[in-house]
Amino acid sequence: IEAQLGGGPLSGRHVLVTSGPTHEPIDPVRYIANRSSGAQGAAIARAARDAGARVSFVTGPASVPPPEGVDVIRVETAREMREAVLAALPADVAIFVAAVADWRVATPSDRKMKKSGGALPVLDFAENPDILAEVSRHDQRPTLVIGFAAETHDVADHARAKRERKGCDWILANDVSDGTGIMGGAENAVTFISAEGAEEWPRAGKDAVATRLIERIAAKLAGEL
Ligand code: CTP
Ligand code: CA
Repeated sequence: IEAQLGGGPLSGRHVLVTSGPTHEPIDPVRYIANRSSGAQGAAIARAARDAGARVSFVTGPASVPPPEGVDVIRVETAREMREAVLAALPADVAIFVAAVADWRVATPSDRKMKKSGGALPVLDFAENPDILAEVSRHDQRPTLVIGFAAETHDVADHARAKRERKGCDWILANDVSDGTGIMGGAENAVTFISAEGAEEWPRAGKDAVATRLIERIAAKLAGEL
């Protein structure tokens, strides 16, 4: 209700969120993907909406539905995601939750590949554009650019290096080392990395992580941090 009355902490703000996996075609019926469910991105978009923001939600083919009340832009591939993100600028805040495929098949077949007498297919890969790094250095750079990083070891060190390499403000690193994997799970164990250092956030549900992040963003934009 607060948000509807325009009194939410992010009212008047435009928040861009990327979410879900990307699918990179091999041929018309096959693709390369990853285990992202899109749950954390959807939770963050919902929390931003509830804080009164206008939300652009650029999502790959996720297994959870997008929240109501946000502008949903559906994409398949990393390159489509990049186009949609650049088209959604300017924004006050951009939060890159998507698990973007690092590589695509360089030349996907336009016909279904067929088995041929035991000969195995060989796939040539090309590297996908780094959308977060590009937006971090864009002339319409949002005030706050935030990334996620899934790491299995040396979580804080890798995330610190990633923050500097990509030029973003904050990174939320999650430890995906325990076999079952947090990816696709209900909870997230986050290390929050900023220029000021690293903070361990207690393991919590994805909604709680989302609320905590949105509160942090609102405080930063209000000049309280
Ligand atoms: N990201 C992106 N575009 C890409 C790859 C990643 O926007 N092509 C974003 C992700 O949404 C995430 C952050 O960058 O917010 C970090 O992604 P991650 O996969 O951890 O980083 P990479 O640079 O791809 O490094 P790695 O080799 O560890 O996968
Ligand atoms: Ca990656």
